[in-house]
This record gives sequence, structure tokens and C-alpha cells, in this order.
Amino acid sequence: MSPAATACADPAGTVGFLLCRGGQLLRAAAIEAPRMEARLLLGHVLECRAEDLLRDPRAAVAPERARGFAALVQRRVAHEPMAFLLGWQEFWSLRFAVSPATLIPRADSETLVEAVLEALPDQGAPLRVLDLGTGTGCLLLAVLSEYPNATGMGLDLNPAAAGLAAGNARALGLAGRAAFLAADWSAPLAGRFDLVLSNPPYIEAAAIPGLMPEVAGHEPATALDGGPDGLVAYRAITADLPRLLRPGGVAVLELGQGQGPAVAALARQAGLVTLGARPDLGGVERALVLSAPGGRLG
Ligand SMILES: C[S@@+](CC[C@H](N)C(=O)[O-])C[C@H]1O[C@@H](n2cnc3c(N)ncnc32)[C@H](O)[C@@H]1O
Repeated sequence: MSPAATACADPAGTVGFLLCRGGQLLRAAAIEAPRMEARLLLGHVLECRAEDLLRDPRAAVAPERARGFAALVQRRVAHEPMAFLLGWQEFWSLRFAVSPATLIPRADSETLVEAVLEALPDQGAPLRVLDLGTGTGCLLLAVLSEYPNATGMGLDLNPAAAGLAAGNARALGLAGRAAFLAADWSAPLAGRFDLVLSNPPYIEAAAIPGLMPEVAGHEPATALDGGPDGLVAYRAITADLPRLLRPGGVAVLELGQGQGPAVAALARQAGLVTLGARPDLGGVERALVLSAPGGRLG
């Protein structure tokens, strides 16, 4: 890593120097928390906890590790998401491997898991769960972690995403209760489900180039693009829910900001009942809870 533009207190080649120089480069690239991210990246390269690095800023770093750190800083300067550099993202206190095949799990999506727990309070129920557009598998696997007798299937158009989700299920010890399929969500599936989850692509196509560079430049369009009005995937999914849900079954769909009324109207046209909408921590209506006619579950 090149000498600091502004002097760093610790000698070159030490932990303190690398953190200082890495932080400077990240700050210059308008990264919001440059010092913290520099610590996370160096901790990743040195295979230690980021907070432990501060104990000995004068510790020497082997040149190949310093080069590995410099390469990660350059990728972050280009606004590649931290999760891709670290290889994982936490969701519902579980660790998920990530890849450019699909969306990085978002904290806002945890609202869907909360909505499921509220709608189906019997956590011992042997639910049959379907996750449409499973990505990393974060929604399905978080729900299975809360319902020890539930089984589930995750579907994704992208085979690389379905494979990633299967790997996450194995790593979390949930593979015995989860199956993953590379398929369109309109694919015919055997039987009906007690619970259908989906966080579909819902960004209006024209808005995608204006998103943060981490998202617009690095996450795949198949995970983001909801068509001209953002509602294309919801039209397909709500139309299919009556054949996928058993009577009284529940569906929980993630919503983009302000999409609640339009998605609820699509659900109504499909003969579904809206049970409610749950806000995320920012107060945005994030999880729409629907039910198929025929009595409540759970
Ligand atoms: C917004 S991402 C959500 C990923 C994950 N469920 C989450 O919450 O982080 C949407 C996912 O839907 C998948 N997808 C898009 N169109 C699809 C389709 N027609 N059938 C199945 N999956 C689709 C994408 O590949 C992507 O993984």
C-alpha cells in the first residue's frame, strides 16, 4: 500500500499504518464509515476480529497479507459491497454466504420473518413453506430456524442463486428440511403450502441507475428490476398464490416503499384477503400479510 498522503503515525507495514492508509483511501471515495470498514477488511485478511486489531497497532503484517488488504480496499473504493468482499452477510443473526448471483440480504427483510412469527404463532407447527425468489435462502432459512418442525422449498430463476441457498442451508444445519430448485416462480409445484414467502424484484426499472453504486453497479438486475412500474413480479406472484396456498394459508410479501395499496389490490383481484402490513424499523410498510380464504392457520 502506497505511503500516506497525510502522514500515518505507525510505521509502514504495520497494522496501524494499514488501517490509517486504508481509512484515508475509503474516506476519499466517500465511503460512509471508512475506519470501521478498513478494520473489517484487515480483520478479514488477517482472520481475526476487527476489534482485536486495535490492541497492537505496531504489529507487523506479512507483505502478501498487506497486498491482499490493499486489493480489497481498491475494490471497496470502486464501491463493491462490503458483503461481497467479506463473502457473507448476517441476517436474523445467521450468517449467509453471498455472491453476485443475487441480492445481499437486507435488514429490512427481517420484517417478513417478524410478520410470519406474528401471523403463525404456533412455532411447533409442521408448516410447509415456499420461498419464491429465494436468493441466498435467507427468508426461508430464517423461518425454518424459528419453526423446528417446518420444511421448505426455495425457488430461484438463477441456478447459481439456488446453489448458493443450498450451501447456506448446509452451513446452517438446515439442509434436511430445505430443498432448492432453479425454476421460474410460475413453475408447477406439487401440493399446497401453509406459508409462501417472497421478496421479489420491485424497483421501477428507470430508477435502477440512480440507486447507490453498491446496488446499481454490483447487484444483479434479476434481483432488482420490477419492470416499468415495479409491480411485474407481484402480478405474477399474486395470480399464482391461490393455487400455491392451502385454504387458510398465509403469504408474506416484501413491499417497496409505497407499494402496499397496489399490491393489496392485486391480491384482492386474485381472491386473497389482506391480514395487515408490518412496518420496518424505518417506519416503511415492508411486509404485506395475505391469506387464502378458508380459515386461519396457526
Ligand atoms: C429481491 S431478490 C430476493 C432474494 C432473497 N429472497 C432476499 O430476500 O434477500 C429476488 C430474487 O428473485 C429471483 N427471481 C427473479 N425473477 C424470478 C422468477 N421469474 N422466478 C424465480 N425467481 C426469480 C432473483 O434471481 C433474486 O434472487
